[in-house]
Amino acid sequence: MRYYIIGHIAILNVSEDPERDAKEILRRHKNVRTVLLKVGELSGEYRVGKYEIISGEPITETIHVEHGLRFLVDPTKAYFNPALEHERSLVCSFVNDGEVVIDMFAGVGTLSIRIAAEKRAKVYAIEKNKEAYRYLLENVKLNAKRLKGEVIPIYGDASKVVYSLRDEGDHVIMDLPRFSRYFLPDAAVCIKDRGLLHYYRIVERRDTKRPIIEISQVFPRVEVLQERKIRGVSPSKILMRVSARVRVL
Ligand SMILES: C[S@@+](CC[C@H](N)C(=O)[O-])C[C@H]1O[C@@H](n2cnc3c(N)ncnc32)[C@H](O)[C@@H]1O
Repeated sequence: MRYYIIGHIAILNVSEDPERDAKEILRRHKNVRTVLLKVGELSGEYRVGKYEIISGEPITETIHVEHGLRFLVDPTKAYFNPALEHERSLVCSFVNDGEVVIDMFAGVGTLSIRIAAEKRAKVYAIEKNKEAYRYLLENVKLNAKRLKGEVIPIYGDASKVVYSLRDEGDHVIMDLPRFSRYFLPDAAVCIKDRGLLHYYRIVERRDTKRPIIEISQVFPRVEVLQERKIRGVSPSKILMRVSARVRVL
């Protein structure tokens, strides 16, 4: 079996006998009160998976603690991945006090809030899924006392919202790995000249230069600062991030 834990919920990814495995998980982890079986991959533009409650309390909302920050999440309603904590630390380390960050696909705010907790930055967190946006608002409130910077949640489609943030971003984060390439022209609207683009993509393992090629098709000059193979997502595909300084002129 393969599973991971978010707050009081265990999510069983791979199992030959889900009921037996659920019992075993509840026995091993005294804090787990609900076991969900993943029955469908992340899908649609909101990247939400399909789950069935197979054991314990029928409650899918929980508080997950990451890096001392508290996040109210519900994996059945909005994207959340607890496995990317180290990745979030790496992106945070690029941001300096006083900078403006535009998180185009903010989800429940995991990365936006983490950045504002560590840096005196202004973070615009854009989200289109109403449920994810509701959690984003809650999570900003939940962590308000721990923030050095500011998170400004914006409900809407990033491709439209960017026009109200023209040339403002010292950093633009594009964490929508399957579709981000379609939004590169929108990122070009809101990033400053010489700003840093943090571009996530799922690519074929033999095509790891694809993210840089795509960025270079939109921005006239690109200086790659970090190129990271984050993890495999299938036998042939991996999740990558490229952080690059871009010229828009
Ligand atoms: C991979 S998740 C982002 C996760 C987030 N960065 C985090 O750290 O948890 C992508 C998010 O983008 C949102 N989304 C998809 N299309 C969007 C759009 N056009 N504008 C804004 N948000 C969008 C989805 O609803 C989803 O919550």
